[in-house]
Amino acid sequence: MKGVVLAGGLGTRLRPLTRVTNKHLLPVYDKPMIFYPIQTLVDAGITDIMLVTGGNNAGEFLRLIGNGEEFGLRHMNYAYQKTEGGIADALSLAKHFVGNDKVAVMLGDNFIQGSIRQAVEEFEQQPSGAKIFLKEVPHPEEFGVAVLEGNKVVNIIEKPKQPPTNLAVIGIYLFDSEVFTICETLVPSQRGELEITDVNNEYIRRGTMTYEIITGWWADCGSFEALLRSNLLVAREQGVDV
Ligand code: G1P
Repeated sequence: MKGVVLAGGLGTRLRPLTRVTNKHLLPVYDKPMIFYPIQTLVDAGITDIMLVTGGNNAGEFLRLIGNGEEFGLRHMNYAYQKTEGGIADALSLAKHFVGNDKVAVMLGDNFIQGSIRQAVEEFEQQPSGAKIFLKEVPHPEEFGVAVLEGNKVVNIIEKPKQPPTNLAVIGIYLFDSEVFTICETLVPSQRGELEITDVNNEYIRRGTMTYEIITGWWADCGSFEALLRSNLLVAREQGVDV
């Protein structure tokens, strides 16, 4: 399975922190943010990884990550996103890299406690489709929110004002290569982006979506509060008393 880490966007919700740099280069405890999702993929046994980024600071990622030696990798792949088209637009740039393989996509500002290795291995056995990861959160309205019926996800609503459940869809997605065909059919949302939630809803419609509820903590960096929380969780995980 290939791995793709998405690190584009303007990070407007984190200005002025992101006025002169890319959000994913900001520090989270003792490392740049982007280190954590790369490590999560490597820990899951995924070693063929592409980083998609864009904007003025794209070159900094090369200087920072190089060929991925720090992660025990021999090679790192890069793609450049010219416009701010959203998560599904960024993912489209990995089409040739992924080919007919499956792909684990992780948002560059997401952190999880623990490993997705077992889920990745299960997804290798899943004949086709996709797998998402859910986490109960106190403020689901800030995320994609999943609706379950029995053991199936039946709908995902992106940042609903009145969330039907408290199950957030976290920023790690396992897809078969059909994802690139689906991305081509998307139309921009109200925020002008090609939404990963629309991709996931198409897999739900096709009846090939599976899910897992994660038990460890999950954090993203969509706001100042979330960034602070991520720093604290990551530091505490390393035994720091903060
Ligand atoms: C994105 C997704 C959302 C998901 C979140 C996780 O939101 O659209 O469904 O719950 O990542 O971090 P964004 O950060 O683009 O607002």
